[in-house]
Amino acid sequence: MVRVTEVMLETKHIKKAFGGITVLKGINLEIKKGEVHTLLGANGAGKSTLIKIIDGIHTDFEGEIFINGERVRPKNPNDARLLGIGMVHQELSLIPTLSVAENVFIGRLPKLANGLVNFKKLYRDCANIFEEINITIKPNEMVKNLSIADRQMVEIAKMLSHQSEIILLDEPTSSLSDDGVERLFKTVEKLRENGKAIIFITHKFEEIFAISDRVTVLRDGQQIDTIDLNMETAPHSQLETKLVSLMTGTHEDEIGELYPKKAKEISDEVVFEVQDYTQEGKYDQISFQIKRGEIVGLVGLKGAGRTEVIRSIFGRDTKQSGRTFLNGEEITIKNPRDAIKKGIGLISEDRKEEGFVGCLGLKENINLTTIMDTVTFGLINKAKETKKMRDYIKKLNIRTTSEQALVRNLSGGNQQKVVISKWLAANCKVLLIDEPTRGIDVKAKSEIYQLIRDLADNGTAVLMITSELPELIGLSDRALVMHEGKIVNELVGDAINDENIMNSIFKHSA
Ligand SMILES: Nc1ncnc2c1ncn2[C@@H]1O[C@H](COP(=O)(O)OP(=O)(O)O)[C@@H](O)[C@H]1O
Ligand SMILES: [Mg+2]
Repeated sequence: MVRVTEVMLETKHIKKAFGGITVLKGINLEIKKGEVHTLLGANGAGKSTLIKIIDGIHTDFEGEIFINGERVRPKNPNDARLLGIGMVHQELSLIPTLSVAENVFIGRLPKLANGLVNFKKLYRDCANIFEEINITIKPNEMVKNLSIADRQMVEIAKMLSHQSEIILLDEPTSSLSDDGVERLFKTVEKLRENGKAIIFITHKFEEIFAISDRVTVLRDGQQIDTIDLNMETAPHSQLETKLVSLMTGTHEDEIGELYPKKAKEISDEVVFEVQDYTQEGKYDQISFQIKRGEIVGLVGLKGAGRTEVIRSIFGRDTKQSGRTFLNGEEITIKNPRDAIKKGIGLISEDRKEEGFVGCLGLKENINLTTIMDTVTFGLINKAKETKKMRDYIKKLNIRTTSEQALVRNLSGGNQQKVVISKWLAANCKVLLIDEPTRGIDVKAKSEIYQLIRDLADNGTAVLMITSELPELIGLSDRALVMHEGKIVNELVGDAINDENIMNSIFKHSA
């Protein structure tokens, strides 16, 4: 195979500051035609900021950008589009109340002679793009009815519809199922063959090894190193250690275990119990207990009914029948407020939609569940709130440019830590967690695992859903296998492994 080495995109000495804090300290990238170039770095390293500069979102920066040797300065994303740059954002940006096809072709909807939208053509054009990348979503479906994974695929289709030459993908896989990732990678491979230059951001090493030609590591806004994976012969595990070491600045010998030690022994004290939870079409006669100090993992294929179960425990969704017990006493939860009052917390799948309030600061978010504790004579005790925020910033190692930062401007891992702080501050008795580390770098991941374990050690009953099997296996003391709305098996200790989980699922598949 002839390797193309033509440089398509180049950045020179890119520097960027937000409010006096430098977050990019001179980045020199060279992205070649026909290469997939991964940007790797901890949350907050500056990856998104760098590609937002290339996409014309941040225009206030130092340094230069070249496309095919020609100096450019994208003024806004539209301008970038005209220069052949297309981006898929980390945060989804679709309009929920419009159809899928309208979102893909927004700003350039095909019109009839009378000026009205030509829906027939719109849907057909959209279906053509979908067919090319094997998407089975209906073009006339409203975006608000789509799962997060499907929305992500729509974003990707939207970017592809612009026929860009330089493609920027900011964590496109963080909410895709394995199948979605596979479809995306097939598309990316096709784009590479067609000579596009692709910047890809991911935290998942198996994805890097599967698709990347080169990897550039950023740490705290600095460019640390670029590794050409096509030239490396070391086994993946060794390369992974090397990359983690570059990302974190930790010596390779000092890179520790990702998962904390499991509970030594679990007490007999049942903290939380559900009996016969049933909701037709979603889940059926779900019963389980969680003991003091225990992390229970709820595992199953996508659509097994796991998220629905924990949402109804939290009172966010209704259920037809079922009883709930906390410390042996029956409780009734009609809505999330009841749940919070009883000491039940939920870290939900979609942190942007439900986990935090992006337009508020750290302090307001951390104190969200405990507002009443800091109110005296009807006034919020600011000093108490500030102290709490500082405690959590320190304890959870939350990285922010300032105490006043808005949570939506923090990186994913740090947003997730804010969500966890909120529930730590609330002293939950039961914590329900749905996908705890989606889009989070390895370092923050291991910190979050330790936080979850600490919560359990301090007596919180933890129920966790994750689609990452290694995470479930690494963290759970006990696993309940769910399939098509039913619990089909329970695994304890060493029996929680890939083989047993898969066997329990497939034994029950028709
Ligand atoms: N709009 C913004 N305003 C202020 N600070 C920001 C903004 N966007 C990003 N930052 C800060 O810049 C740094 C780099 O963030 P980002 O590029 O999102 O990192 P990454 O994508 O590598 O996780 C972080 O410290 C982040 O808090
Ligand atoms: Mg980012």
